[in-house]
Amino acid sequence: APTTRAGKAADYLDQRTSVGSAVKEFARKVFPDHWSFLLGEIALYSFIILIITGVFLTMFFVPSMALVEYHGPPATMDGQLMSDAFASTLHTSFEVRGGLLMRQIHHWAALIFMAAIVTHMMRVFFTGAFRKPRELNWLVGTLLMILGLLAGFSGYSLPDDVLSGNGLRITDGVVKSIPLIGSYLSYFIFGGEFPGDDIIPRLFTVHIFLIPGLILALVALHLFFVVLHKHTQYPGGGRTDKNVVGYPLFPVYTAKAGGFFFIVFGILALMGATMAINNVWSYGPFDPSPVSAGAQPDWYMLFLEGSLRLMPGGAEFVMWGDWTVSLNVLIPAVVVPGILFTFLFVYPFLEAAVTKDKREHHVLDRPRNVPVRTGLGVAFLTAFIILALAGSNDLIATHFHMSINTITWVFRVLIFVGPWFGFWITKRICLGLQRKDRELVLHGHETGRIVRFANGEYIEVHRPLDEQERWLRVNYSAHTPLEVEPATDSRGVRRKGYAQDKRMQRLSRFFYEDRIEPVTPAELAAAHSHGEHDAI
Ligand code: HEM
Ligand code: HEM
Repeated sequence: APTTRAGKAADYLDQRTSVGSAVKEFARKVFPDHWSFLLGEIALYSFIILIITGVFLTMFFVPSMALVEYHGPPATMDGQLMSDAFASTLHTSFEVRGGLLMRQIHHWAALIFMAAIVTHMMRVFFTGAFRKPRELNWLVGTLLMILGLLAGFSGYSLPDDVLSGNGLRITDGVVKSIPLIGSYLSYFIFGGEFPGDDIIPRLFTVHIFLIPGLILALVALHLFFVVLHKHTQYPGGGRTDKNVVGYPLFPVYTAKAGGFFFIVFGILALMGATMAINNVWSYGPFDPSPVSAGAQPDWYMLFLEGSLRLMPGGAEFVMWGDWTVSLNVLIPAVVVPGILFTFLFVYPFLEAAVTKDKREHHVLDRPRNVPVRTGLGVAFLTAFIILALAGSNDLIATHFHMSINTITWVFRVLIFVGPWFGFWITKRICLGLQRKDRELVLHGHETGRIVRFANGEYIEVHRPLDEQERWLRVNYSAHTPLEVEPATDSRGVRRKGYAQDKRMQRLSRFFYEDRIEPVTPAELAAAHSHGEHDAI
């Protein structure tokens, strides 16, 4: 029988729930260790901090658009007409003890949350962690990313200052650009013509209940999948698709993760305490007329802003007398993000179809070994960054004293050539790195030591790789492009599905083009005798 107090408590619980064996099983689960696996944790911890600080903010925030005459600090706002929402944000910031700190931690946590999600997603993408059996978790993740965007957007729209009001104004325009249903949808969302006085209370419910609830449920599913599938691991000595090398969840991982939570919390608290963010009183309450240069959304929404700013204004026409088609808004604000998000949703399935790879993968890819995937990832990021920069074209113009029209035209060209260029350069770098790996496996490291033989011949001494290094450089994606059967079968009848196979084959060729062959045993043997020559 247990003698310690903790033991007795555990025993009490176990006798009533038989949770013991599950806990033991769970505590022994092994997690591999790598710094890049912390990115998902940062997303998780900043979400927890968003909930904690968010609950605090709900105690003081008044989700109402009723007009009030504000009296209180700061002096510039005293006596102004504004909504309850804006007034309560000022009150929270200036008169509630710790209020400004909480608002600032909340806002910084939102920025870090999205940054962690995006970098976590990049880690998963570039290492191929989305491959079987984790495709579904990739989908859950992509949903989480989109919910994160909506959480941030609904949050920074709440204070009803000039910046957030203008963000909503743009949203109204985007919704109205949707053909046929646009204006009805806008009336539905705003409860009448923009801005009405329903949108803030509605966004409030969405922001503090609907979206966090969905995120919470999906994060639970996401982590359940991580446990179910087990975590992937980087290639290295002794690691295979059949084992997991790492530390047990308890006590090593729980201690590490618990400590890491406090590090994230500490850094966010420090940021909230020392770095001003979203000083809404310097913009003032919402009023559609004053929009100045330097009005930017939070970074994760900048790509949408940039997309809108790049689109030439002319693409708008009236059909059938009174029906306006606003392609100038529809394309950048609905079609472009639609394409970007669709790419993210379908990529794991597309790659699986192109490689016909049905194996499970628990050892991660080195990005260089899958040049086309890595190239596509860089192309995607290039597009994202160009759009985000285009969303800051006014700031670039004022900071660097350049013409905003020139900047906009440069980005209009870049958005087409940039991703292509990014893809091409990345693919070449990957292939170069693979060649370098091949060279290392065959001939070892250069040492810079030159030896002269008695017969006058000079050679450089090479140091062979150790087991770890060699393991890392084994090419894991030793696949060949799809070969399709001929167009007609043995009796000359045209085969069904041939055209589709042919199309897939073309994609597959593209994926494996310029493939660098893995080192063969014969090559290794030849290099070995060469090495012996060196040794002599
Ligand atoms: C793994 C959290 C969003 C895909 C993980 C892990 C955590 C986590 C803690 C395990 C540690 C790690 O590998 O980093 C979260 C949270 C998210 C989020 C809190 C957002 C609220 C995403 C997104 C994607 C994604 C946007 C991709 C679209 C995955 C996959 C794994 C994973 C595939 C398994 C990785 C592996 O075993 O190597 N996530 N994640 N997650 N996440 Fe996320
Ligand atoms: C405001 C993001 C979750 C309650 C905000 C703001 C952002 C944001 C960027 C604007 C802050 C400002 O500068 O004024 C997020 C994100 C969340 C999240 C990304 C989760 C993924 C929550 C939760 C709650 C909450 C769970 C409450 C339970 C609030 C309130 C405000 C707010 C009351 C208005 C406060 C104010 O601006 O004065 N949120 N939030 N948030 N958030 Fe959140």
